[in-house]
Amino acid sequence: MKLLPFNDCNLKTPRILEALNEASRSIAELKGLASSIPNQHILINAITINEAKDSSAIENIVTTHDSIYKILTESGFKDEAAKEVVDYRRAIWRGYEIIKEKGFISTNVLVELQGMIEHNKAGIRKTPGTKLVNSKTNEVIYTPPQNEKEIRDLLKNLEDYINEDDNEVDPLIKMALIHYQFESIHPFYDGNGRTGRILNVLYLVLNNILDSPILYLSNYINKNKSQYYTLFTEFRENNNYEDWLIFILKGIEDTSKNTIELIKQIQNEMESYKNEFRTKLPKIYSDELLDSLFFEVYTKINYIEDRCNVTRQTASTYLNSLVDVGLLEVEKVGRESIFKNTRLIDLLSKF
Ligand SMILES: Nc1ncnc2c1ncn2[C@@H]1O[C@H](COP(=O)(O)OP(=O)(O)OP(=O)(O)O)[C@@H](O)[C@H]1O
Ligand SMILES: [Mg+2]
Repeated sequence: MKLLPFNDCNLKTPRILEALNEASRSIAELKGLASSIPNQHILINAITINEAKDSSAIENIVTTHDSIYKILTESGFKDEAAKEVVDYRRAIWRGYEIIKEKGFISTNVLVELQGMIEHNKAGIRKTPGTKLVNSKTNEVIYTPPQNEKEIRDLLKNLEDYINEDDNEVDPLIKMALIHYQFESIHPFYDGNGRTGRILNVLYLVLNNILDSPILYLSNYINKNKSQYYTLFTEFRENNNYEDWLIFILKGIEDTSKNTIELIKQIQNEMESYKNEFRTKLPKIYSDELLDSLFFEVYTKINYIEDRCNVTRQTASTYLNSLVDVGLLEVEKVGRESIFKNTRLIDLLSKF
């Protein structure tokens, strides 16, 4: 396998530069819009729940928004697929915390995230046999490196490339090359795709292209799956890195635009929700309570007790009043009452 940097690739062809220009512009707009939102946590929570669902869907883990929320409430509700999705989102948060703290993406972090996604400690591949096959024809498409030492050396080379300070190559281009290289090393028995997709967003945050983990290509990859797979082979066998880069850059552009639209709709929804809340329940309304209703897509009495610093009785009155005026829906999950922000759920389900 080739080592990074790929000196035989001209990364500044006119087609690449044009796509880079569009992608850079869109993602900069996304960054700006996101930073104008007061409660970043609300935004990240909403976006990562959709990403966790889309990314897991690539792996054929299919579930509904409704099941995901029920798992999130930790109320004993059971749904394996939804649990996987929630664990995937935890891995995103964990990765984000680590890079904020360390300012570095190490191989160990990738191993940790993959372990969280796959729920095992298998770590980097030790036993040969991993191959990428076409699921329809069973034909072998690609055999990644088999030897553990070779895999570790390639990962070290990748780690150096990820963390080097080099202003020569644009981070968006580097992200695309890192994604290709990481998937080609294919260091784990399973979960390489999902770990690689988290690595993408962490890399953007590490390079201040984004302040928070809010841009994900999974939906785009899902929609263009066969092209995505073909381009790996094109890159490897024909050194057609140009089409690969343009594909990823186009994904960044499209996804930035979609995410901008999603953020605007969340903002609008919060604004109209706030107005309705204030008009219908002026005695109960507070900014903290409103924020709590958008923090996740559901809430519970004890969260409101904590966040708004009120008694259980008061928290319960608040939530039930919101149900009475149609701003929340209540559902019993196990022994607990879950209060769902169905407007936010419906909005997220559309994206
Ligand atoms: N020809 C190829 N060369 C290198 N990597 C490839 C190739 N085809 C697919 N891949 C990568 O392999 C990933 C799948 O690997 P793996 O099954 O380990 O990951 P996963 O997270 O379990 O699956 P998925 O990505 O389907 O959710 C794909 O997402 C893609 O990124
Ligand atoms: Mg898999």
